[in-house]
Amino acid sequence: MARVRVALRAWWRTPAAMRVCPARRRASLTADGATRTVDVPEGFRRTATRDVELGGRAIRRGDKVVVYHASANRDGAVFPDPDRFDVTRSPNDHVSFGYGPHFCLGAQLARLQLRSALRCLVERLPGLGLVPGRPPRRLVSNFQNGLKSLWVQWG
Ligand code: HEM
Repeated sequence: MARVRVALRAWWRTPAAMRVCPARRRASLTADGATRTVDVPEGFRRTATRDVELGGRAIRRGDKVVVYHASANRDGAVFPDPDRFDVTRSPNDHVSFGYGPHFCLGAQLARLQLRSALRCLVERLPGLGLVPGRPPRRLVSNFQNGLKSLWVQWG
């Protein structure tokens, strides 16, 4: 269900892009585009295991810090025009699944589910559209980026 939610949000962000390329390639490209921009934990707290300097700031062993994946995914030094949802963006080295030894164990499953959900959306519901006058409701959370509701119609 979570993957369907992500797929819907990808589609909501980029209905035009979703129509451009053949469904299989589009679903694959959009899956990682969506993961970078919409399906991220906003950030996780960490405890520094040693003294370190990061971006000119001293972090002491034992300090609590928050790693903002959402911010890293929009780092203009890594992603040109970072707020643009571009399904053809390559490379797309986002950190939505984390980084290093705790990299998400389910990343490949999540990608597979997302690609499959996107393919179903564009192939089976080609007339999918937003319900006029029903704006999407955002989730208010400092942990997860999400939607509370997204009214759609097709036919
Ligand atoms: C789009 C969907 C998903 C996103 C965005 C996501 C994101 C993440 C992130 C950011 C981490 C790193 C946590 C950290 O740094 O401590 C993580 C870890 C993990 N994820 Fe996911 N995840 C997703 C789906 C899944 C799925 C489907 C599974 C299992 C079927 C899964 C299983 C895990 C596990 C077991 C870890 C812990 C790995 C470790 O600590 O070594 N995730 N995930």
